[in-house]
Amino acid sequence: MCCYTRRHWITLRMIRSILLLGTLVGLSMGEIYYTVNCTGSEDIYQYNATLLDGSATINFGDYRGKVFVIYNVASFCGMTNATYHQINYLASKFAEDDFLIIGFPCDNFGQLEPASSYDEIVNGVKYVRPGGGFVANLTYFEKIDVNGDNEHPIYTYLKQANCPYTDTEFRTGLFYSPERVSDVRWNWEKFLIAKDGKPYKRYHYSTMDPAYLEDDIAYLLSQ
Ligand SMILES: *[C@@H]1O[C@H](CO)[C@@H](O)[C@H](O)[C@H]1NC(C)=O
Ligand SMILES: *[C@@H]1O[C@H](CO)[C@@H](O)[C@H](O)[C@H]1NC(C)=O
Ligand SMILES: *[C@@H]1O[C@H](CO)[C@@H](O)[C@H](O)[C@H]1NC(C)=O
Ligand SMILES: *[C@@H]1O[C@H](CO)[C@@H](O)[C@H](O)[C@H]1NC(C)=O
Repeated sequence: MCCYTRRHWITLRMIRSILLLGTLVGLSMGEIYYTVNCTGSEDIYQYNATLLDGSATINFGDYRGKVFVIYNVASFCGMTNATYHQINYLASKFAEDDFLIIGFPCDNFGQLEPASSYDEIVNGVKYVRPGGGFVANLTYFEKIDVNGDNEHPIYTYLKQANCPYTDTEFRTGLFYSPERVSDVRWNWEKFLIAKDGKPYKRYHYSTMDPAYLEDDIAYLLSQ
């Protein structure tokens, strides 16, 4: 009888532990917002950035009237392959339209974009990930920080002025400081910009399926 009681007690304690663990795991998973709406009224056209090959500094006013998506890209990430396929799918789907894709290489997340030069990054894409001769159909801008004290002004604008964060949690392996709630959470977040230069939506890094962006791009092109 005593033993039965003891086993019973252990069982209850185990159940409590499992429930507690579940709660902790649940909390640490946080909340993901796959897409969030941007609300700011200021356009992106005053910002400038240099191309990765150093050939020119572009004023974003040059993209007036176009729909475009801005990615922070990284060559060594688990999402690199799928997201480059997403990029090329969207580029070819909207090839006849006033549409373009922009990539800023960024080493802030897990140091997964160690290379800095145009040749290293383009060759990594071509031969390693995705590899097989893959040519990414996007315009590469300079390698930048997207968060922290050294973040590029265009990201300060995108995050703080216009588009809320996509995840309540931060991952580990952040190579910048300080952390702010508005931060880009990992490689491959996306910002979609409308024809009037106003950010329309921001997408969580896990939105690798083209379907997350396709209808939104088509909608903005029809405006
Ligand atoms: C985002 O905007 C769309 C319309 O463009 C609206 O249907 C949706 O409810 C908005 N989402 C949030 C979270 O405000
Ligand atoms: C972008 O460059 C132009 C000159 O080319 C300059 O007038 C403008 O202030 C720059 N914008 C920002 C946000 O630095
Ligand atoms: C890369 O992504 C494409 C498209 O999502 C997929 O078909 C392919 O199997 C992936 N390759 C690897 C090595 O994961
Ligand atoms: C790359 O994208 C541009 C612009 O969207 C388009 O004109 C071109 O046809 C695309 N190239 C390929 C190979 O998909």
